[in-house]
Amino acid sequence: MEIENKVIVVTGGSGGIGKALSTHFIHENAKFVIALDINFDNFKSKDTNLITKICDVTDEKELTMVIDEINLKFGLIDIFCSNAGILSLGNEQVPIEDWNKNWNLHVMSHVFAAKKLIPEMLKRGSGYFVNTSSAAGLLSHIDSVTYSTTKHAAIGFAEWIAITYGKQGIGVSILCPQAVETAMTMGRENAVSALDGMMKPTQIALDVIKAVKEETFLISPHEQVLGYFQNKANNYSRWIGGMQKLRQKLKS
Ligand SMILES: NC(=O)c1ccc[n+]([C@@H]2O[C@H](COP(=O)([O-])OP(=O)(O)OC[C@H]3O[C@@H](n4cnc5c(N)ncnc54)[C@H](O)[C@@H]3O)[C@@H](O)[C@H]2O)c1
Repeated sequence: MEIENKVIVVTGGSGGIGKALSTHFIHENAKFVIALDINFDNFKSKDTNLITKICDVTDEKELTMVIDEINLKFGLIDIFCSNAGILSLGNEQVPIEDWNKNWNLHVMSHVFAAKKLIPEMLKRGSGYFVNTSSAAGLLSHIDSVTYSTTKHAAIGFAEWIAITYGKQGIGVSILCPQAVETAMTMGRENAVSALDGMMKPTQIALDVIKAVKEETFLISPHEQVLGYFQNKANNYSRWIGGMQKLRQKLKS
């Protein structure tokens, strides 16, 4: 899908990857970009067609109301980027609240957006979703069970939408980077996810724009990830053995 003249929503748009996506969509002549986030304290934009709006995307009622408001003020949404995310570390013993937070943000917020937008997009025969997962959704995140599990689920949801509606004009891309230099990774420069290097949010945004234009499903900015993913598919048990060794090395 072309970016020019499109109405685009980016969640988690106040910083990191979301902010880079929002500004690059503007550079590509989007008609309006509406960035949604729970706070915009450190966000400044001179672009009058880059609009900010406070919205907790895990609250279905709130997200639905904000989408209705956007439709009225700026027009029907062409591209919706579900990008908001959090990283909390821990194993299966983390409190249920942690699970719910990760599940609601990394999976249900994508579901809420699709549930609200797909009926109208089907009528128009056009619409596009960019859902942010992570390389952890294709592989794993050694330090976080909640992140690994919910980012896998985000890929499952995006696949299902692509399979079900792809022939009716609805496109989907799933963004799966390894480490990116944002608030999320601050102080984690030596973490295992940064072994293949930290990318800049700007590079991620350029990769997303290319993928949307070409309607590519998987966006894997770190090339190495595709190799690891192939290893996993070729021999799942051997891949788990490799990850166990990596984990032992990191924890010793
Ligand atoms: N930084 C990385 O290394 C990396 C790697 C792979 C995937 N990701 C994913 O990229 C996405 C963006 O992360 P980032 O690295 O830019 O981090 P970030 O912390 O800079 O941005 C995340 C944004 O999401 C917002 N947010 C959190 N909860 C929200 C809610 N309930 N409603 C609305 N907004 C909310 C935050 O306020 C923040 O602005 C996330 O989904 C993250 O999991 C990041």
